[in-house]
Amino acid sequence: MAAMELLQPMRRRRCDSSTVPQLCNSPTLIVMVGLPARGKTYISKKLTRYLNWIGVPTKTFNVGQYRRRAVKTYQNFEFFKPDNEEAMRIRKACATAALRDVAAYFASKEGQVAVFDATNTTRERRLIISSFAKERGYKVFFVESICDDPEIITENVKQVKFGSPDYVNRSMEDAMLDFAQRIECYKSSYTPIDDEKDRKLSYIKIYEVGKRYLVNLVRDHIQSRIVYYLMNIHVAPRSIYLSRHGESQLNLLGRIGGDSKLSERGRQYAAALKTFIHSQKIHDLKVWTSHMKRTTQTANILGVPYEQWKALNEIDAGVCEELTYEEIQEQFPEEFALRDQDKFRYRYPKGESYEDLVHRLEPVIMELERQENILVICHQAVMRCLLAYFLDKAADKLPYLLCPLHTVLKLTPIAYGCEVESFYLNVEAVNTHREKPGNVDINRNPEEALQTAPDHI
Ligand code: ADP
Ligand code: F6P
Repeated sequence: MAAMELLQPMRRRRCDSSTVPQLCNSPTLIVMVGLPARGKTYISKKLTRYLNWIGVPTKTFNVGQYRRRAVKTYQNFEFFKPDNEEAMRIRKACATAALRDVAAYFASKEGQVAVFDATNTTRERRLIISSFAKERGYKVFFVESICDDPEIITENVKQVKFGSPDYVNRSMEDAMLDFAQRIECYKSSYTPIDDEKDRKLSYIKIYEVGKRYLVNLVRDHIQSRIVYYLMNIHVAPRSIYLSRHGESQLNLLGRIGGDSKLSERGRQYAAALKTFIHSQKIHDLKVWTSHMKRTTQTANILGVPYEQWKALNEIDAGVCEELTYEEIQEQFPEEFALRDQDKFRYRYPKGESYEDLVHRLEPVIMELERQENILVICHQAVMRCLLAYFLDKAADKLPYLLCPLHTVLKLTPIAYGCEVESFYLNVEAVNTHREKPGNVDINRNPEEALQTAPDHI
């Protein structure tokens, strides 16, 4: 009772304000800051993907897209000149429209975080955004990218700006020159976040692609996760190889889970994986496995040092461990039906759900972000979760992603996304993929599965 009384005033203070709506669980507006070609869109997209994957509904609002809708054909950098009044009016209208959409997104209760991806290089613009957010009870977190290395900027422009809709049918040289002038248009009015004047703001400043960071006033859990994530990512070129273990003895019997050893074909796959990895000529490859026999045996045949992660163990099917899907349907018909209704959230009795698995795998993802070339030898459900992170797949699609046995997926981060190559290593294996009932099961074996344009390619 006493505790209840103590809680009351605080509740009133935080929730019952008539002037500031929705202060409880207030949404977060992430505001990007920086000159063009400083990685703002890259960071926005990556952060959005990560937050969605950990279960925080997030959307990016890129003002450049609003501008392209408003002005169909981009002529040249003069559009961005500070004294181009007509263009300035259009640019302001685009920013306002994007903010209006942010408000609608939060009002729909669909979203928890919005990333406002624009240059926001003037204090005036940032003040407008801050007041907009304050009036609506949103928390604001600024992410500023500061980079003065001309080589990095030139490379960024080459990688992403040349291919942008602004420069279709323009030569690389022409596009590079125009973009450089575009950057100059922003420089005269650019005021970076000031550690003194802006000390009441929450922000992270990222210097020279993560060589140094400055973090100020982290106000809540979500902001601390954002900071942690941004401090772990890097842009060095690399590839992530994902593979399941070789076919196991329980796979052969159609039984899920357990901790069995490899079948004869499973061992053949491990040998084929060794040849494949050799053929890739990968510099400084790290190998990770789970704690389960079938992944460590695969890595042992590979003959390279490896690190074991308990977090990479296969989904725990609880009371259904070592049963076939048919036996689960017979012995636990209700459970079986429930899983088909919402496979992502369904938790096996005394076991785990895919949602649990995503939480378990979060430290793995964080460490994967820090690494360079890496081979992860894991399991079907685990591989689906990792793949969903890299390929930005929604929770309802995740548990049905195709990850056949004896097939390596090579993921190579490019520009704003990830390129996927699939290598079936020509060693037959059973098909362990069970389609969502109602969907035609066209994936009887891994080769067929790959030929039929799976969801992840
Ligand atoms: P902006 O949105 O600022 O115009 P982009 O996001 O389109 O810039 O630029 C993408 C490029 O930025 C990618 O090639 C990526 O490697 C690079 N990049 C990513 N993070 C950073 C960073 N912190 N600083 C500078 N460049 C970065
Ligand atoms: O069948 C192999 C396996 O790795 C099992 O150990 C695991 O329970 C299952 O795949 C996960 O796949 P699904 O979620 O489609 O049942």
